Amino acid sequence: MTTILVTGGTGLLGRSLLDRLKPTGARLRALSRQDRPDADGVTWRVCDLHSGAGLAEALDGVDVIVHCASEPEVPGADVETTRTLIDAAVEAATPHFVYISIVGIDDIPYRYYKDKRCCERMIRESGLPWTTLRTTQFHQFVASLVDRVAKLPTPIMLVPKGTCQPVDVDDVASRLAELAQGSPAGRVDDLGGPQIFSLARVVRDEMRRRGSHRPVVSTWFPGKMGAAIAAGHFTTPAHAGGTVTWGQYVGDNRAL
Ligand SMILES: NC(=O)c1ccc[n+]([C@@H]2O[C@H](COP(=O)([O-])OP(=O)(O)OC[C@H]3O[C@@H](n4cnc5c(N)ncnc54)[C@H](OP(=O)(O)O)[C@@H]3O)[C@@H](O)[C@H]2O)c1
Repeated sequence: MTTILVTGGTGLLGRSLLDRLKPTGARLRALSRQDRPDADGVTWRVCDLHSGAGLAEALDGVDVIVHCASEPEVPGADVETTRTLIDAAVEAATPHFVYISIVGIDDIPYRYYKDKRCCERMIRESGLPWTTLRTTQFHQFVASLVDRVAKLPTPIMLVPKGTCQPVDVDDVASRLAELAQGSPAGRVDDLGGPQIFSLARVVRDEMRRRGSHRPVVSTWFPGKMGAAIAAGHFTTPAHAGGTVTWGQYVGDNRAL
């Protein structure tokens, strides 16, 4: 029987992934920094990937690691924790290392994306069998950005020129579950949501849905970041494989 370890098992993606792996019959282990009771076919192990304490035991007998743990708000954290995980995996039974990454990280000059690129490279060069999937932003992430913009007390809402392609976390989890059960495949095709929208349209539509009529204005975001967003690097038009639309996610099933 295959044993799969999910890091970040308490996170948005990790929870959905564990739900998709449960019916497969694989033996499931998950990591968290907090102690949790084993339940529902999942054995929980406590480990902070910064120290790596407890990691050797957590990796004992593991065939596949799906690495979903991440700390986007802490510069360099993912590089450090991914290094710790790779080193422990190399010392263990060299499991298949499955990694979740983000569309556009080569082209968008953002500190967290630089960390993701570094993690991808470390995995490629680790000697472990590996698979990496890049996806676009999850619906929840896009919704949280809209929330942030909506809270700004400005009479008009300025939104960067550019596009997004929100994808459902359950679609991503289903693909990762497939990859975790397959052979190591290297960098696989990206996965994006089924539709591409201008950022202004997503914000405008969402504000109308919330009953706000504040004007939403599309504007150039300064610098290289603005140019990268305007160039569409958040999207992957050729890989619009997600099934759940933004409209379905927000719950009103409108064709946006
Ligand atoms: N959000 C998006 O739109 C998006 C799009 C594409 C790809 N991704 C990628 O998907 C992955 C998961 O994202 P998410 O949104 O599901 O994340 P999330 O909900 O913020 O969950 C983060 C997880 O990381 C774990 N974690 C954080 N620091 C840790 C540490 N030092 N040691 C061990 N575990 C640690 C947390 O576990 P505990 O708190 O239980 O310890 C938590 O389960 C990330 O790699 C992200 O880059 C996200």
